Amino acid sequence: MAEQPSNPLLRPLADGIVPAEVIARTEKRWLMIMTAMLGVMMAIVVVTGIAGALHPSSNVEVVDPTTLHLQGEFVESNLGTAIEPDGSVTVRIIAEQYDFVPRCVRVPAATPVKFRLTSADVVHGFLLPDTNVNTMVVPGFVAEVRTSCAGPGEYAMPCHEFCGLGHQAMWAHVSVVPKDRFPAQSPRERTSCATE
Ligand code: CUA
Repeated sequence: MAEQPSNPLLRPLADGIVPAEVIARTEKRWLMIMTAMLGVMMAIVVVTGIAGALHPSSNVEVVDPTTLHLQGEFVESNLGTAIEPDGSVTVRIIAEQYDFVPRCVRVPAATPVKFRLTSADVVHGFLLPDTNVNTMVVPGFVAEVRTSCAGPGEYAMPCHEFCGLGHQAMWAHVSVVPKDRFPAQSPRERTSCATE
């Protein structure tokens, strides 16, 4: 009969029981594989972040948040819904504590709509229920989202980024009117939802 090793870990084991050194070797291999997988995943995050140029929810269009009302695209007279030569519309809105300016905009149904938003102070959120529109509005950047509203109706637009004590009261509205009724709307009706 062969002599038993003095180290109990090296003694032959009953069938089905794996010796401790085999377990240690296997665990070490799996540890190396897991570390390599973590390294690969970290590398994917870094490489796609740099190569894909991940950036704030905008087209990296910058704008000076301190002079919005004085010059450029977001002066007061340029806010609200504008009709483009191709028949689509562009809506320009400023988000600020604790309101959207203008508070209500009117857009035609079944028409491409481009929202361009920026913030005058802190980060706000812009969400149009039942559409694909959902973006952060970051000061210093112009957020642009495109959609098309299926039918006439009134949409409430909540600010969904906590922006201060008045956050929960920060709502705006989009009034969607039938496409054929839209051209008859005056600029005041388009930017304030007034009825004339
Ligand atoms: Cu603006 Cu919350």
